[in-house]
Amino acid sequence: MDLNIFQNASEGAGKMKGRPLIIALDFPDGKEVDGFLKKLPDQKLYVKVGMELFYQEGPAIIHQLKSDGHDIFLDLKLHDIPQTVKQAMKGLAKLEVDLVNVHAAGGSAMMQAAIEGLESGTRAGAKRPDCIAVTQLTSTSESMLKHELLIDKSLNETVLHYAKSANESGLDGIVCSSLEVPEIYHHLKRSFKTITPGIRMAQDSVNDQVRVATPEKARELGSTAIVVGRSITKADDPLKVYLQMKNAWEGLPV
Ligand code: C5P
Repeated sequence: MDLNIFQNASEGAGKMKGRPLIIALDFPDGKEVDGFLKKLPDQKLYVKVGMELFYQEGPAIIHQLKSDGHDIFLDLKLHDIPQTVKQAMKGLAKLEVDLVNVHAAGGSAMMQAAIEGLESGTRAGAKRPDCIAVTQLTSTSESMLKHELLIDKSLNETVLHYAKSANESGLDGIVCSSLEVPEIYHHLKRSFKTITPGIRMAQDSVNDQVRVATPEKARELGSTAIVVGRSITKADDPLKVYLQMKNAWEGLPV
C-alpha cells in the first residue's frame, strides 16, 4: 500500500499522484459499507471512516478496509487535553491508517502532543499517519462564531490563524473549504495539505453544505485532496459517478 500517498502533492499541474479523491463512508455499520463497496469492484480507493461508523464497528472496520487494499482517513476529530490526545493518537497509529485529524481549537500543545503520540505508536520503519487539523466546521456560521463562541474575528481570519497554528505545531495540513485554499497558500507552503469536503458536481443537490465547489474548481483552487460523500454514496450508480468525479478532479475528460 502506498503510505506516501500525499508525498508528491506539490508537484506541477497534471501530476495528480498523491492528490486523492477520498470517499466519505458515512454509513451506520459495516454491512452497509460492504453493500456500497460491492458497487465499486476492483477499485483501490481512499476512504474516510468517521465517528458514525467507527463508534459502531471499531478497529475491525479499519482492518477490513486495509486488507481490501484501501487507503484510510480516520476522521475522529480529536479535541481533549494534550496527554489524552497523545495516548489516543498512539493507539490510532497502531491501526496503520494513512490520515487522522484533530480540532485546531484544542491548541498548539494539543496538536504537538498528537504528533508525539502518532510517532510513538508508529511501527519502526513505517511512515507515521499524516495528521491534519479541522479549522472551522463548515456548519459554523459567522453569527454562531460571534454570538455563541464569542469570537470577534471573521471566519476567514480564524481559519487562516488555525492553519498557521497547525503548521507551526508540526501538523501536515488542514481540513477546509476549497474556496479557502488560495488564501492558505498565500501564507503557507504548498507542501502543507488542504483536504477539502463540500464537493458537488454542478447538477448535484448541495444538501447541508454551504461553501461548495465542483471537483474541477477544487483542482483549480489547489486543494491537495477532495472528500466526497453523498454525491457518490447516494448515487444510483456509484461507480459511474465516482469515475466521473475522479476524472473531473484529475483534469481528464468526464
Ligand atoms: O456528503 P458530503 O459530500 O457533504 O460529505 C462530506 C464529508 O466531509 C462528511 O463526512 C463530513 O462529515 C465531512 N466534513 C465536512 N466539513 C468539514 C469537515 C468534514 O463536510 N469541515
